Formats: sequence, structure tokens, C-alpha cells
Amino acid sequence: MSRGRLVVGNWKMNPATVADATALARTVGAMAHPGTEMGVAPAAIALTAVADALRGSDVSVYAQDVHWEVAGAYTGQLSVSMLRGRAAGSIVGHSEVRRDQGDDDARVARKLGRVLGAGLRAILCVGETEAQFAAEETAAVLKQQIDRDLSDVRGITADRFVVAYEPIWAIGTGRPATGAHASAAARTIRTALRVHGVPADAIRVLYGGSVSAASVAEFAGAAGIDGALVGGASLKSDEFAAIIKAFGG
Ligand code: PGA
Repeated sequence: MSRGRLVVGNWKMNPATVADATALARTVGAMAHPGTEMGVAPAAIALTAVADALRGSDVSVYAQDVHWEVAGAYTGQLSVSMLRGRAAGSIVGHSEVRRDQGDDDARVARKLGRVLGAGLRAILCVGETEAQFAAEETAAVLKQQIDRDLSDVRGITADRFVVAYEPIWAIGTGRPATGAHASAAARTIRTALRVHGVPADAIRVLYGGSVSAASVAEFAGAAGIDGALVGGASLKSDEFAAIIKAFGG
């Protein structure tokens, strides 16, 4: 089954100013990427400026996180309605959000349900810890995360749902997984998705974790991997361009 390629830059709490984010967005918007869909996920405060800078381009904008409620007393949070006109969707369940905001799979499930229910796209992040990797528990962990994270959603379609396999031990460490490990994870993820009635063969699975110009070939050639969620390297336009090119853009 042929699935389109997708590369998304997760800028996290970078760059330092909204002006810098806008400039980076303009650079990304000018990158050639035939055959590869592109996206960026700026910090919440830069969403509007980045969306404006990329309007008319074919680079999609994503939020890095979103709240599960539609409105109310949730200090510091973003609702799905706030994304309208700015973002095509949101990353959901990133391990840094799970770690720093205390999100468990139950919350991730509610967020995923909210994003999809609002007609937005979701990039669901799953992945094992270093200890789980060492104990060869990757498959069991991924299956459990998919089972729990999808417990609130029905009718998932391939145009609005992407899974990012991000082993926590590979994020920001300069120590990416191997292509073989990522391929095995993608197989496990698709098997788990099928149990939930998701058209798994049509769903894109990205790899994330220390993807760089130097490491990308490993994943661009990995069976079952359809693109990348890129952190650090997405802030350097030459690195990001090389990653997009490797995925066929
Ligand atoms: P990294 O981050 O590329 O800096 O390892 C990836 C991510 O967290 O999405």
C-alpha cells in the first residue's frame, strides 16, 4: 500500500522569539519538497504568526499539544477551537508532555478524541523508555499505549490520523534507533491499530528520535516508516531540508 510521506518539525520551546519562529517558518515554506508532505509545530505563542507566514504554502501547521476540554478554567492550556484558522491539527501524547504535564494514557485518549472530534488531524506519539527497551518490552508497551490511547475514539481515517513512533531514549540524545527497530515498531503499531478497526495499512507511521541529516537514511529506507517527526534538526534549515530530501521531497 502506498502511503504519502510526511515530515513534521517539532520546534518544542524554540526558537527564542516569535520573530525567529516566523523567519524559520518562511524558510521552511520556501523549501522544495515534491512528493513529501511537510508540517511544523511551533510553540503555542507563535502559532498565529507561523500560520500567517505559511498561508498559501503547502506546509501544514500543528499545535504541540491541546487540552481535552473545549473551554473553561484550564490555565495555560489551548483548546481545539483556538487552533481554527491556525493549525491543521495537533501532536498528541508527546513523551515530553506526558513527562512534564503528567499526562497518562487516559488523558492522551481524551485529547485524541477531542482533536479528531473537532475535525482536526492528530499525530499520536508512542514509544518506550530506555529501561523498557533494554528489557525488550517495546512491543508490549506500544500495544498497551495504542490500546489505551485509542479507547475513546471511533471511525479513525488515514487522512486525519498519524502515529509517530518515538522511543524516549532516542529523543534529543543523538542516539537514534535503528531502521530495523523502527520497522518492527511500525509493524507492532499497525497490528495494534487493526484491533481497533483502524485501516492500519493506510495509516502513516513516522519515526522520531535524533533524526538528522546524518541519520535520516536509516529511516527513509525502513519498511513501514512513512516519514519523521523531527525535533532538534528541524530548527536548522539545512538539516531539515536534507531530511525532507531523504524522504523523497
Ligand atoms: P529530536 O526530537 O529529533 O530532537 O530527538 C524528536 C521529537 O521529540 O519529536
